[in-house]
Amino acid sequence: MNKSEANDYTIEAMQMSNLKHGGNIYSNAKKFNLLPSEIIDASASLVPFDPPQILIDSLNSEIKNLGFRYYPERNLSDLKEIIGKFHGINPDNILPGNGASELITWAGYEASKFGINIIPAPCFVDYERSLNCWNSNFIHCELPKNWNNIFPQTFPLHPKGDVIWITNPHNPTGQLWEKNSLEEIIKKYKLVICDEAFLSITPNGEKESLIPLTKKYDNLLVLRSLTKIFNIPGLRLGYVVGSSKKLKQWEINRDPWPLNSFAIKAGIDILSNQKFYGRWIKQIHSWINIEKKRVCEKLSKIKNLKVHNSSTNFFLIESGTSLSPNIRYLENKRILIRECTSFKYLDEKWARISLQSRKNNSLLCKEIQNSFKK
Ligand SMILES: Cc1ncc(COP(=O)(O)O)c(C=O)c1O
Repeated sequence: MNKSEANDYTIEAMQMSNLKHGGNIYSNAKKFNLLPSEIIDASASLVPFDPPQILIDSLNSEIKNLGFRYYPERNLSDLKEIIGKFHGINPDNILPGNGASELITWAGYEASKFGINIIPAPCFVDYERSLNCWNSNFIHCELPKNWNNIFPQTFPLHPKGDVIWITNPHNPTGQLWEKNSLEEIIKKYKLVICDEAFLSITPNGEKESLIPLTKKYDNLLVLRSLTKIFNIPGLRLGYVVGSSKKLKQWEINRDPWPLNSFAIKAGIDILSNQKFYGRWIKQIHSWINIEKKRVCEKLSKIKNLKVHNSSTNFFLIESGTSLSPNIRYLENKRILIRECTSFKYLDEKWARISLQSRKNNSLLCKEIQNSFKK
């Protein structure tokens, strides 16, 4: 897309882009006159359990101490310090953000300093939003539509361009990319933005993280989110790891207080307790391994439905015909799955499903099976 086309990105298009995300639970609850908790939301790929007690305690203590009466610390030094310790990275190379989404916006700012951005697709829609904010040029490159069940996989594309946006594991396909193949990519582009929003949630994912490579490559930015793994989309907490020079510039340009005091406190308390973190992650990985196998086996039995392999807590299904009637049927049963027409190179024959609790997965599978009988 060139700059003048990007300028045509009207307010209407921006409003539409809100609908491109999954997790529209409030608007759906309103539509069906339900509470959000009465809906099974398999359209947003979050851990379906209550957030850990340590996080609730952290938020309660912020209320008790009236910590929100003060402006949060501007330079976020305590949180940077904790994240730095957590990853073995200098705090100067870390910038916390209001979810990974805010940092995607700033990554777009960095990308706008170069020529052509490559977006492997289908992909998370927010990269495009960010690049449009800064009038940047970008092209989509199509990822192969079939892949095996062995993860990690070699990153399959090396298109010509200046900047590349990688998602590891990839959203919406759930492919986990192998670190060595990504290092080859880092050597070829002026800037590599690697979004690891789902990496901690992914069994065996952490080994493929590019965070250690930020010490070696100045042209690498790695984005992280705490949203998925702790089920805290409403808190807004993420961070980026990369060149301190770049991040300093973002700090100068961004809002003065992008993170609220609750998110800061929660981030510090969660990430400073490595013992708790290790236990939580182990539990989540075990849930994914067990439930993914069970759900995928059940859905694979449906005639004309292909279940695509995934390394993580969401996966794609592909039907021989449109899945729109199935999605509407499920909505009437208070179940949301992610329709895929807003993903480049996918259409109404595709949908993305995220894993739920065991009980809700059983219900989800049963209703998906029923939706094909209608
Ligand atoms: C690949 C990817 N990156 C980033 C995000 C945004 O994460 P956050 O909630 O931290 O803004 C999402 C949300 O769905 C995502 O799918």
